[in-house]
Amino acid sequence: MNSPMKRRDFLKTAAAVGAGTIAGSAELLAEAGRLGAHSAIRPVVIASSNGLKATAKAMEIIRAGGDALDAVIAGVNIVEDDPTDMSVGYGGLPNEDGVVELDSSVMHGPTGRGGAVASLRNIKNPSKVARLVMERTDHVLIVGEGALRFAKAHGFKEEDLLTDAAREVWLKWKENSSTKDDWLPPHDMDTRDIGESLKEFFRTTGTINCNGLDLRGNISGVTTTSGLAFKIPGRVGDSPILGAGLYVDNTVGAAGSTGRGEANLLSCSSVMIVEYMRAGKSPEEACLQACKRIAEQTKMKRLLDDNGRPNFNVNFYAINKKGEYGGASIWSGSQYAVNTGEAESRRMECAYLYKRAER
Ligand code: GLY
Repeated sequence: MNSPMKRRDFLKTAAAVGAGTIAGSAELLAEAGRLGAHSAIRPVVIASSNGLKATAKAMEIIRAGGDALDAVIAGVNIVEDDPTDMSVGYGGLPNEDGVVELDSSVMHGPTGRGGAVASLRNIKNPSKVARLVMERTDHVLIVGEGALRFAKAHGFKEEDLLTDAAREVWLKWKENSSTKDDWLPPHDMDTRDIGESLKEFFRTTGTINCNGLDLRGNISGVTTTSGLAFKIPGRVGDSPILGAGLYVDNTVGAAGSTGRGEANLLSCSSVMIVEYMRAGKSPEEACLQACKRIAEQTKMKRLLDDNGRPNFNVNFYAINKKGEYGGASIWSGSQYAVNTGEAESRRMECAYLYKRAER
């Protein structure tokens, strides 16, 4: 066990490392300015389609010499704070009891560290708490009551995250739920018509994933969500699970996801996308390959359409060390937001496996 002396030494060292790697000191700003002027690093920030403002904010911080993790967290905080985005943070749709439960994960490429929280109630910026798990504990994931107590110990204030708009959507669902919840009777591979419970347009799995490459060539990412609307309390999707909803390798790139978390939890796609990129695939090809794996792995009939294709969607977003970026989805029609520092954030079409029928 460490002596008190050793622990103090450790803390001193940790503070120095933290300041050197993440803080935006004047020295770092100057260095970043030089790098921006002379290096071939092409900064980039990518996010899910709800991340236009987030990518713009993150790029502003990166261009000012900031660390990619500072940048992407500041970006997604805009969406977490936005009551009109019903899939993330404040204003997110609640669980089946009408309580908002949030999940988030972060990864900091240069230090190879990560942190996450799941089923966090009453704190509107789970991404900030996930970062504190990374920086101020020896753990990677803290859930539920423990995550709330941890956040409060660090000064976060509890607040009611359920807006009137989200409560009204929940009430409508509650009054009509019957077959539209997540409880299933016993069933086998061939069971098809269990009900409407997994129809994606009714049960949103919003979320924002945001990944950035900064002027030092460092990569970080964050994913944050209120998860599946009207979920069974305590349900955790892919967003706070490193390797599934987010993964960063500073030598290769970063990937993250939105969409049906259960499918991604069964394939751990983000780490797979990073490995595909390491093997030479472009970000878009790597994301598409992950979509194929999910489609191949989906075998329960209730999750397949009449042509044997997944009846849900999952979207992936990735960047690599060269500043290349791309996104892909199982079904056509998804977009992602990107900012390369040369112009305003814009939306791009995701590549896809299957084309949706025209409606
Ligand atoms: N992908 C977000 C979730 O399933 O919770």
